[in-house]
Amino acid sequence: MLKIDRALEEYILAHCEPEEEVLAALYRETQVRIYHPRMASGHMQGMILSMLVKMIQPQRILEIGTYTGYSSISMARALPPGGELHTIEVNDELEDFIRQYVEKAGVSSLIQLHIGDALDILPTLQGPFNFVFIDGNKAQYIDYYELALPLVPKGGFIFADNVLWDGKVLKPNLRDNDHFTHGILQFNEHIKQDNRVEKVIFPFRDGIFVLRKK
Ligand SMILES: C[S@@+](CC[C@H](N)C(=O)[O-])C[C@H]1O[C@@H](n2cnc3c(N)ncnc32)[C@H](O)[C@@H]1O
Repeated sequence: MLKIDRALEEYILAHCEPEEEVLAALYRETQVRIYHPRMASGHMQGMILSMLVKMIQPQRILEIGTYTGYSSISMARALPPGGELHTIEVNDELEDFIRQYVEKAGVSSLIQLHIGDALDILPTLQGPFNFVFIDGNKAQYIDYYELALPLVPKGGFIFADNVLWDGKVLKPNLRDNDHFTHGILQFNEHIKQDNRVEKVIFPFRDGIFVLRKK
């Protein structure tokens, strides 16, 4: 697998769509004002999500883990006419920030933000969602997946981010309290055994599991 170093990433970015000003501003403000800014998608991942939405043209997207809204806005702007995106974020301190940028990006009529725990909110949502992006707590991926799968029609897609977890999935002798790595390992094993979906891991960035419901 090709390792993308900084120089190659810059080369890629120089040959792709430029970042929209509102997303660049969101990213900058996330780095300066918000805890754990590494969690934000950024331009590369945003472009990939946007292109996937343009390819699949889902009418309804479900996202678990909004953070500051980079991925939500990237996907919402790529929706086909009449489409909508539901996104769930447990940290209510992020709500004002998210709403401000959703407004600035001109997608407030396309995005429904749910503030609360996805494990409580998912059972209250009505399907169908033909595009699901799982990007919440890595220790809860199996729960999100099992709650979201019934909302996905046959042929619909689920994308689960960070399933290579910075290569830690290969590390022997994990600490017992490394809940995120254990969560990712259990999720990947769960998917491997699951015949309800076709599966492939896209090896870009931190690894995205692409699942298509049979
Ligand atoms: C990696 S960040 C999401 C990044 C965002 N999707 C992006 O691409 O910019 C993970 C987010 O999931 C949220 N989260 C964690 N557990 C959650 C839960 N049970 N329900 C909803 N959101 C959760 C965290 O608060 C955090 O904001």
